[in-house]
Amino acid sequence: MREVRLSPSGGFDNAALPASHIEVRPVAAAMGAEVMGDLRDLSGDAFAELRQALWRHKMLFARGQHWTHAEHEAFALRWGPFAPDAYTHGVAGHPGVQPLIKEADHRSKGLFGSGWHTDSPFLPEPPGMTILRSVEVPPYGGDTVWANCALAYRTLSPAMQTMLRPLKVRMSAVNNAHTQKLADGKELNFASDEAREAAFAGNAHPLVRTHPMTGELALFVDEVYAVGIEGMTQAESLPLLDFLCRHITQHHYTVRLKWEPGMVAMWDNRGALHLAANDYDGFRREMYRTTMAGERPE
Ligand code: SIN
Repeated sequence: MREVRLSPSGGFDNAALPASHIEVRPVAAAMGAEVMGDLRDLSGDAFAELRQALWRHKMLFARGQHWTHAEHEAFALRWGPFAPDAYTHGVAGHPGVQPLIKEADHRSKGLFGSGWHTDSPFLPEPPGMTILRSVEVPPYGGDTVWANCALAYRTLSPAMQTMLRPLKVRMSAVNNAHTQKLADGKELNFASDEAREAAFAGNAHPLVRTHPMTGELALFVDEVYAVGIEGMTQAESLPLLDFLCRHITQHHYTVRLKWEPGMVAMWDNRGALHLAANDYDGFRREMYRTTMAGERPE
């Protein structure tokens, strides 16, 4: 007899931390919270609480922000420097602000970001966190969904955790570029030929990484960029990568955001995967993203 997959239990605790300068309202059991108020002029104390809230909830969002590119940039730089961007040069005058725009007449089975991924993990130092804002959104669809990779790690059996901990996963943009070409019939844009080459060669990172601020362990693997496990054959590594991606992205570990114009969402790439649902053909979606520098995963 074969066991039906059991629902995870235990380890769910997305309650807000005590805070006196910001108001944080959790929105799902696994992760994610809404932050109330205007995020532009947070005091140092309020910003420190926001940081702690991000490490805890892994995704935060706020309504009614309606930022300009300059305001987006100013908020982003409070988190540290921008991460290198392999895909774009940013918008005019704001190189750190990356446009993510799908026009109403663009139909494709492979939209940028529509598979489960963490942002640019093929870099030697992948972005630590990302800040995305909405300008125009479809009347329905176009949601972003996140999954909590630390919670997913905690619910694996001790035997599986022990096996995974010493492993390194190779992250590369090669499958993403190939898939985009199949879906769109044209090459995926990279900021330069050098950026494309480096993104294809990729980097090997710990499959279980330790959060530098909290010490929390999380699975660092996704279905877009993870191409193999160091020292294993593809026949050995691909079923394991598939299992881990299916495990992390179970409904229980996720939160889903329905965008409104003028929203801002930010997430911790060290402990969460995300995807942009490709389900709004015929409508325009205009978003802008900044990715913030991270460290070499350990
Ligand atoms: C991204 O993958 O960074 C963007 C997600 C989105 O467009 O919702």
